[in-house]
Amino acid sequence: MSSIAFIGGGNMASCIIGGMIANGFSAQDIIVSEPGEQSRLRLEDTYGLTTLTDNQAAAKQADLIVLAVKPQIMQSVAIDLAPALGANSVVVSIAAGIPLRALQTWLGADTAIVRAMPNTPAMLLEGATGLFANQHVDPTKRDLVTTIFQAIGYACWVETEAQIDAVIAVSGSGPAYFFRIIEIMQKVGQELGLPEQIARELSLQTALGSARMATESGTGAGQLREQVTSPGGTTQAALNTFEQLGLEATFREAMRSALNRAEEMAIDFSAQHELGN
Ligand SMILES: NC(=O)c1ccc[n+]([C@@H]2O[C@H](COP(=O)([O-])OP(=O)(O)OC[C@H]3O[C@@H](n4cnc5c(N)ncnc54)[C@H](OP(=O)(O)O)[C@@H]3O)[C@@H](O)[C@H]2O)c1
Repeated sequence: MSSIAFIGGGNMASCIIGGMIANGFSAQDIIVSEPGEQSRLRLEDTYGLTTLTDNQAAAKQADLIVLAVKPQIMQSVAIDLAPALGANSVVVSIAAGIPLRALQTWLGADTAIVRAMPNTPAMLLEGATGLFANQHVDPTKRDLVTTIFQAIGYACWVETEAQIDAVIAVSGSGPAYFFRIIEIMQKVGQELGLPEQIARELSLQTALGSARMATESGTGAGQLREQVTSPGGTTQAALNTFEQLGLEATFREAMRSALNRAEEMAIDFSAQHELGN
């Protein structure tokens, strides 16, 4: 097993490490470099792993290095780390919105780099992660990265970096879409006469049960919808209203807005860091 270093031991790193340990990774293979003493102690006490405060020292001990710091400090962290990388090192960035070109500029053009886009349900090991590798990442390292992100939920590789923006529009921002729907159902449930608590519980359990049915039944979402829609019944009445008011077009526009914003942010980022297009 390769050794793995986390640069930054905050929320996302803790959750990935938790998933890795729960899925059979050994604490001895994981090292974390993190300036915050409280975070270091929490990681040591919870998982029995080694922590330090020297990013370069952590990177030198590992084949795979996960950059889990905030995007604002990624440039200085990456530039500082570059001399500590070995010929076989692979660097995985989980920072939202930092293009591969920027990472290559800071870490070295020949460095093997993976961009990972996890989402917040990773906190419950129910995340969805899109992964994109540059041409320097070999199949063995790809497999290791897959195993790491599968430990916190579903993980998939995409073929182009542009598809990472589509991942952002689907699963990165996606939890908020479902939270919004739950919010609306709770509110309208109350308007229709239900007590707040009951409207909340019914909406939440319906979201959970529907997601589990769609995930576990092996039946497509469209077919499941048809199965609960009797002709002329109540569900049909609601779905007809969705269609008349343009639900699909609304969702399509919203997800395109997320994608456009991700593209704009990458362009702004490149301009700010004088990376060209
Ligand atoms: N949270 C999510 O759901 C999510 C989803 C997708 C992607 N991401 C990405 O994941 C990355 C981490 O996010 P997060 O939510 O885990 O943030 P976080 O909890 O703030 O973790 C970042 C950690 O990095 C530490 N740090 C600061 N300066 C450092 C340095 N020079 N060297 C090493 N470590 C340093 C911070 O320590 P101090 O607190 O002591 O400064 C903090 O513990 C971000 O780039 C974010 O875009 C997060």
